[in-house]
Amino acid sequence: MVSAVDLSASVGAVRLKNPVMPASGTFGFGADAARLYDITRLGGAVMKGVTKEPRFGNDQPRVTDCPAGMLNAVGLENPGIDSVMKQELPALARMYKGPIIANVCGFTVDEYAELAARFDESQDVAALEINISCPNVSHGGMAFGTDSVAAAAVTRAVRRASGKPIWVKLSPNVTDITRIARACEDEGADALCLINTLLGMRVDLRTRRPALANTFGGLSGPCALPVALRMVWQVYEAVRIPIVGMGGVSSARDAVEMTLAGASAVEIGTAALVDPSALIRVIDELPRVITEMGYARYADLVGKAHQGKG
Ligand SMILES: Cc1cc2nc3c(=O)[nH]c(=O)nc-3n(C[C@H](O)[C@H](O)[C@H](O)COP(=O)(O)O)c2cc1C
Repeated sequence: MVSAVDLSASVGAVRLKNPVMPASGTFGFGADAARLYDITRLGGAVMKGVTKEPRFGNDQPRVTDCPAGMLNAVGLENPGIDSVMKQELPALARMYKGPIIANVCGFTVDEYAELAARFDESQDVAALEINISCPNVSHGGMAFGTDSVAAAAVTRAVRRASGKPIWVKLSPNVTDITRIARACEDEGADALCLINTLLGMRVDLRTRRPALANTFGGLSGPCALPVALRMVWQVYEAVRIPIVGMGGVSSARDAVEMTLAGASAVEIGTAALVDPSALIRVIDELPRVITEMGYARYADLVGKAHQGKG
């Protein structure tokens, strides 16, 4: 019976009524999404990456499409921590009563710590998603996520600055993601989120120049799913802390695949930019997919692909 399926999920101490959350940067601070669909149905709400100062982001063009996905070089456009604490976060908390996750992006270790301490003051924030993987800024961002020493330093500093659960968001643009994952776990991360976008580019035939003003951008969408699954699988085998899986999820079946590979919950980004109802569709479809697999609880699927390989 489909209605009997228990969709509840947990990422460490953070309990979600279902495992489906919007991926940071594709949900803004919730206001636009709330006009398009019922955001109260979401398992969690992940805010756009927040920096210390307001940022206008990179020059245009900063988005282009590609087979089975998109490239973006938005460059962390956001109103900055002061505005988010005063306006965007309280506004989201009025609309959405479930767990709100703050995505934090610094340009130095101290900045990450400072931002974490600011969010620590808010009762509206359930967890911090520490973005050490943004490929679209000239310094900071991905530089921390591609070096295990730097990733450890950010995690340590954030751990000291905040008592909130810390989810570190990893970059796929590395040879061995398990080294970075372990470094973050060793410094007290409560969970790991993966993957951020894959570094890519396109060339515009008309101008014979890179299609993005930033030259490079982050690849996301369905084309990223197999890479994300591979990395979630590897990280699941390497650490004990929970994983939030993302990268190319666009259906309930994709979400279940991610879960079987080791994710305790999923985030969905690009699919919602193509079809704003994607997250609600996945939430609605999950019970049927889980029932067809012979299960009654979403949580029982986590990491199942690793057990006895069956
Ligand atoms: C337009 C856009 C903006 C993004 N901004 C952020 C961001 O601010 N912080 C972050 O951690 N990830 C950001 N991401 C990465 C997504 O959260 C996600 O990790 C990635 O897109 C893979 O998931 P998807 O294939 O479902 O989109 C952004 C992605 C897109 C497409």
